[in-house]
Order: sequence, then structure tokens, then C-alpha cells
Amino acid sequence: MTLLAHDEVTRLTQEKGIQTSKSRELYQEATKLLPSGVSSLQRLSGFVDHPIYMKKGWGSHIVDVDGNQYTDLLMGFGTLINGHSHPRIVQAISAQAQELSVCGAPAELEVEVARKVTGIAPGAQMVAFCNSGTEATMNALRIARAVTGKSKILKFEGAYHGQHDYVLFSVEPIQPGLEISPFKSPYQPGIPDEVERTVVVAPWNDTAILEKIMRRNRDSIAAIITEPIMANSGVIMPEPGFLQSLRELADKYEALLIFDEVLTGFRIALGGAPQYFGVTPDLVTFGKALGGGVPIAAVGGKREIMEMIAPGKIGFGGTYNANPLSLAGAKANLQILEEDGGAAISRIRATGELIMKGLEELADDAGLDVLVQGVGSLFQIFFTNQEKIRNYREAARSDPHSFQVFQQSLLQNGVYLHPDHMERWTISSAHSPEDAEMVLGAAADGFRKVASLQA
Ligand SMILES: Cc1ncc(COP(=O)(O)O)c(C=O)c1O
Repeated sequence: MTLLAHDEVTRLTQEKGIQTSKSRELYQEATKLLPSGVSSLQRLSGFVDHPIYMKKGWGSHIVDVDGNQYTDLLMGFGTLINGHSHPRIVQAISAQAQELSVCGAPAELEVEVARKVTGIAPGAQMVAFCNSGTEATMNALRIARAVTGKSKILKFEGAYHGQHDYVLFSVEPIQPGLEISPFKSPYQPGIPDEVERTVVVAPWNDTAILEKIMRRNRDSIAAIITEPIMANSGVIMPEPGFLQSLRELADKYEALLIFDEVLTGFRIALGGAPQYFGVTPDLVTFGKALGGGVPIAAVGGKREIMEMIAPGKIGFGGTYNANPLSLAGAKANLQILEEDGGAAISRIRATGELIMKGLEELADDAGLDVLVQGVGSLFQIFFTNQEKIRNYREAARSDPHSFQVFQQSLLQNGVYLHPDHMERWTISSAHSPEDAEMVLGAAADGFRKVASLQA
């Protein structure tokens, strides 16, 4: 297949039908006030000229500051499992805001939401709340070190687990001029060498290499941390038996297995990966779909491990941890997901599968080599002639420029996706079959555009 040159993509994507002048003006001002104009750099990645500033969201829809309306498939990076501004979540937060917001004391809601999470998620016999996925993985790793008395952690190449130092290695190890950088590389400057020495990186979906690494580091690896579906290098499914082999290797070499379910939790199944794949970790981290739009995250795990969090033992804390505002939103969100035997999750899966299948058929009609990977609620489309993508390096070989032309074409037709080919599509319970039809109509156009450029 032909890879599109970057200049050509830029020229084409700037032939915009939609008008975004207010977003451009805001971004120009923002760059003088905020470093790089944004408070989270992934909001810049892949955007042509400027990011689009959003103003209002409802259900599956979002409107930008220039008045353009989109069907949203980014959904707050997977947070909005029940859509934008679900009336019951909005009602719960606003009622709570009038009662109690942050109090520096435990609240009844904390017990209620803990009861709910532990009732829903088989990987969490006990749970402790924090505010972001970053905090959750940072705490989970500390717990693993404290419990095992070992200092290293093993993560996978291309895996993203948040912004703390211990997980910022080999997140996107492609370097300009080098196809791929050495196996373990700090993602950004500022991380001490001492930290680097405590991180081991392995390729995903390769049990043989993992076994060797675990054997070599048997006395030092405290934990294997992984997403059960790798969803930060596009979306990559575990090979049959891979998660089970992680479980076995962790047990054999006396390390803890941590499932980072910040993206997959309450999404791929109500009970997350243990329910979907039948493999239960020692510790699990949740974020995003736990709150359905409010900032809340959690570490959960086996009772005997979680009980080590105690005064004088393992610490856990934060001013906003388990704040009643977020708990109220999370409670309403989980109630919606639980109702009618988890009907919302089934609906999400069905809508997503409709889109996945439609994308494959339309790409085929357009004569394009395309791979759609994932599950209904969470998937990615790769422009590639590979038959399957099993790890970061294979994902990185897919064509980002074709993806970007496709994404820009969708944007022109009112569909909002992240422009980075290593992100993903996330579906919510607010997306309808009509949304799916609309998205596929736009995708047909996008594929034609890519095909005409590749011809
Ligand atoms: C798998 C995974 N873990 C952790 C994080 C970090 O979460 P947060 O952005 O809430 O800190 C993310 C965020 O995208 C994630 O996808």
C-alpha cells in the first residue's frame, strides 16, 4: 500500500469545509497563557493547525465554539460511557453540590459506591478511591512494591498508564530518524535514572520473551502491569491464552498482576476483564467509565492485599479522594450501567459492532487495506495490509497519514474522532443505530478520499 506524504496530508486536511475561526483565535491566545496552549498535550496531537474548542455536549453529540455539531466518538477519551451530560448524572451532581462537595471527612456515599464497585467488579474485593488513572496506577504500583518487597515493575512497550514517572517508558518509542528507539526509552526528560533502573519493558503478546525476562528478574520484579486489551496503541486484543500466561508467570515469579482497566473497566463488560476474559488480577485500576464524566478513579484488588493499606503500613490519600461530588456522579453512572441486567453495555457493544462491521465492508468496497480491531465498545481502525496487529511495533507500522485524511474527512462530515491513529473509537449508551448509520455514511466518504489519494 502507498503511504501518504505528510505535506500532502496537511494540504488536504486544510481544505476544510467547516469553519473553525473561533477555535483558532482561542488557541492563539491560549499559547500565550498555557504552555503549548493546552493543559494536556494529547489534546494537540495530530490536530491540523489548531485543536477544536468544544462548548456543549449532550448524548452522543458535541458542539464546538464555532457552532459546528459532531457525533462524538472520542467521548472524553472513553470517559462518557453514558454519553455527554446524562440527565441523571447531571441531576445527581447538582443535587449533591447543594448538600456537600468536599469535606475532609468520610461520606456515606463513599461506602455506597464502594459497595457498588465491589459488587460489580470481580477483580475488586476492596476498593480505594482517588481522582485519575494516573493516581490509580501510581498507587497500585506502590502497593505491589510494598507487598512483595521488590522494586521493579514490568510494563509493555507502547502501553500508557498515566503521567507519573514509573510508567513513562517506551510509551511511544518511535523517534524521528529512527524507525524505533531502543527497547526501553524514557518518554520525556525529567525522569531520574534511578527510576529508569526500576522499570523493565517487554513486547506485548509474547509469552516466551516475558518468561525469560521474568526468570532473569525473579528477585526484583514486584508487578506486571498491563491493560487487558491494549487500547493505547490503537486497540490490540490479547492473543488467546496471553492474559492467562501473565497470571501464571506472575504467580510463578511471585509478582503481582495489575490490570490497568482505566479504559476497559465498566466498558468491555460490566465486570471488566475478569468477566470478559476469565482472568483475575491481584490489583486493578479504574478511571474513566467509572465516573461517566466526573473525575474519579480507584484501585481495587484482593482483600488480603488491599487490607495492607492502613495507618503505619501502606499509605493512600488525597484531598479530593472520594469527594462527594464525584461519588454522586459515579453512583448515578453505575446505576445506569447496572439496570436491566447491564442492558446499556449490551447496547453499546451492539452499536459498536455495527460500526466495526460497516467500516470493514466500506473499506473493502473502496479497495483499501484496513484492519478494524477491538470489541464493540472500544476499537480502532488501522490503515495497513497486516492481517493482525499484535503489539506496539505492528501498530506503529500502520499508516498515520491515511488515518488522518480519513479522520479529517469524518470531521468535515460531522464526526469527531481523535486524529492520532494510536487512539481509539469509544461508543456510549447514548449512541444509537441512527448515529452508527450517520457515522458510516461519513466513513464511506472518508474511505473514498483515502483511496483516491493512494491510487
Ligand atoms: C490505560 C490507562 N491508564 C491510565 C491512564 C491515565 O488516566 P488519567 O488520564 O485519568 O490520569 C489512561 C489515560 O488515558 C489510560 O488510558
